[in-house]
Amino acid sequence: MNRDAFTTTLWQDGFNIRIPEKETGNVPFDVIIVGAGITGITTGLLLQRAGKKCLILEAHTVCFGTSSATTAHLNTVLDNTYPGLIKKFGANNALLIAQGAKEAIHLIKAHIRHYQIDCDFEEKTGYLYAQNKKEDAELETLLEGMLTVGIEAAPSLTTPVPVPFTTAIRFPEQAQFHPLKYLFALIHQFLAAGGTIREATMVQQVAEKENVREVFTTTGVYRATDIVYATHIPPGVNLLHFRCAPYRSYVLGIRLKDNSYPDALVYDIEDPYHYFRTARYQGTPLLIIGGCDHKTGHEVNTEQVFRELEAYAASYFNIGSVPYRWSSQYYEPADGLPYIGLLPGNDDHLYVATGYSGNGMIFGTLAGRILSDLITGVDNPYADLLAPSRIKPVAGFTNFIKENADVVKHFIGDRLSVETLEVLAALAPGEGKVVKYDGQSIAAYKDPQGKIFTLDPVCPHAGCLVQWNNAERSWDCPCHGSRFDVTGAVLSGPAQKALEQLGGS
Ligand code: FES
Repeated sequence: MNRDAFTTTLWQDGFNIRIPEKETGNVPFDVIIVGAGITGITTGLLLQRAGKKCLILEAHTVCFGTSSATTAHLNTVLDNTYPGLIKKFGANNALLIAQGAKEAIHLIKAHIRHYQIDCDFEEKTGYLYAQNKKEDAELETLLEGMLTVGIEAAPSLTTPVPVPFTTAIRFPEQAQFHPLKYLFALIHQFLAAGGTIREATMVQQVAEKENVREVFTTTGVYRATDIVYATHIPPGVNLLHFRCAPYRSYVLGIRLKDNSYPDALVYDIEDPYHYFRTARYQGTPLLIIGGCDHKTGHEVNTEQVFRELEAYAASYFNIGSVPYRWSSQYYEPADGLPYIGLLPGNDDHLYVATGYSGNGMIFGTLAGRILSDLITGVDNPYADLLAPSRIKPVAGFTNFIKENADVVKHFIGDRLSVETLEVLAALAPGEGKVVKYDGQSIAAYKDPQGKIFTLDPVCPHAGCLVQWNNAERSWDCPCHGSRFDVTGAVLSGPAQKALEQLGGS
């Protein structure tokens, strides 16, 4: 199956499911969900089961984005730490979010039980470890924070990975699964309950007409009372584009020469951190190791990042082969919590869910619960805390300024700072670059056969300059994370239009 990148993930390899075409007719839907990843699929299933008539629109194919590229850790110990959340939002709210993470795992387990889904779900113990004095103190604070919000955790004298450590903690009741086996089972249930999915349908515009929202797309116009953007970041330019920063994370699937596969979910606390788990691969175990995260479009040589991650893995593990390597995108929220609920600045029927940090499986599932409750008028305990319109002038202020300053720099500065004069002929096969040619900035890519593709590098979303991602052979926008293939076609939003083609050879 396809995804929004050149590399193939462990999960998608050999996975090919066709979504049956179904006539949509002219009758309005209750809810149109844009995006068929974990958020869209979970929301669709819960709403369809609650009696709402739902249509899921997907610009490419189901699970084209991060849902096929996650490492599928189901953890209650979140990337944005509990001590940080307690400081910004208070102990009660941090406790609430810990409860939300537990509830997400319960919902996944309930689906697996109810629908008898075979998705390699396994409960695991989690480990966090420190590697120096400064990290020891940090780990102690993390442990205190976890205990304050009711996460069971305790010091540990061992870890399941052969990486030297100074102190460690362990926390039970975490889990892992195969994300696509799980999500395709949910899709099957959504369709069986009467839901409709339309793939290869890019949403271009949403307009309100007599209290019904008209969704203009590349395959026609669809109507619904409520719209959910389950696309990471919503299209257009709004508040959330300044409150979420796009990041990429790198993953290797490694076959080891020995049997030192960790039977746990393991994390160090470096920044950016490394993470480990084991999965099944052709009947044998595979070590999944991730890390080396960076802001999208901010790393010049993304191939080099894979090499660094492999060198890191090789210094601790006895590597036999590396059958998989991939990277994927997530959004870091400015104040540490995701934005789930009504889209700020719009009417009362446009919903959004984004800013999951590295906890997409947890927050994508929780978003399904929150959005379906909001749309069906059921009180939800997390809705106020995670409302996208929340005003937290103190919480996340430093982060917000940092992320925003970065965005502003790209808005005004990139045109002046692109590389000095280069000629297209100097590109190596397989290389992409923003070059200056005849006074004009050009996004140029030369394929392995020597064919050159040239594009206007100005992102159609809000005018930043895209950067080349050599590992995934895509043009990535550093401002809000839009991504484009070598022909300029949109791989992931918020951009809704392709990069303009300038010609090729
Ligand atoms: Fe917003 Fe490119 S994604 S300017």
